[in-house]
Amino acid sequence: PVLPIYTYGTPALRRKAQPVKTLSDDVIQLIMDMFETMHYANGIGLAATQVGNLWRVVVIDLSEMEETKDLKPIVLINPVVVSQEGSWTMEEGCLSIPDVRDDVERIGKLRVQFKNVDFRDTELEAAGLLGRVILHEIDHLNGVLFLDHLPPDKKKLHNPLLRKIQKGEFEVPYPVVTAVEVAV
Ligand code: NI
Repeated sequence: PVLPIYTYGTPALRRKAQPVKTLSDDVIQLIMDMFETMHYANGIGLAATQVGNLWRVVVIDLSEMEETKDLKPIVLINPVVVSQEGSWTMEEGCLSIPDVRDDVERIGKLRVQFKNVDFRDTELEAAGLLGRVILHEIDHLNGVLFLDHLPPDKKKLHNPLLRKIQKGEFEVPYPVVTAVEVAV
């Protein structure tokens, strides 16, 4: 099923996810639900913490984008960046922070180790958009949001919109959990 996505201000987004030890039925179900949720929300990446889960699981699908249309959907379990090179800046957004976008500087080229959907050790070299999405999603597993990378004065400019999100005053075409709901 499509899972509700936790939005800015919910404590779930600030939790640190824990390594997956075995590929249990629950983990497999989570992976399927995360793909369903990400596709439903028209996202290109989703981390387990965004659906209130605390396993280190990320799903990515860039096949809808012209320049990455040949890239198959990827599951990264327990991802760890093992090498990095260079940096570049691009505008980012996040399903958990509707309508907020800003430039984020990130590593340009990286290698990431993870377990794949068969729970086999895998290593992948990624640059460009794929590398960026991997880093954005690993951040989520550590309770970090793209906004945290902005200089304080730039981040401040988003405060009016962020307060609205925290109050649940926004509309998106996918189910969400807002900070107001979890505060009750
Ligand atoms: Ni995000």
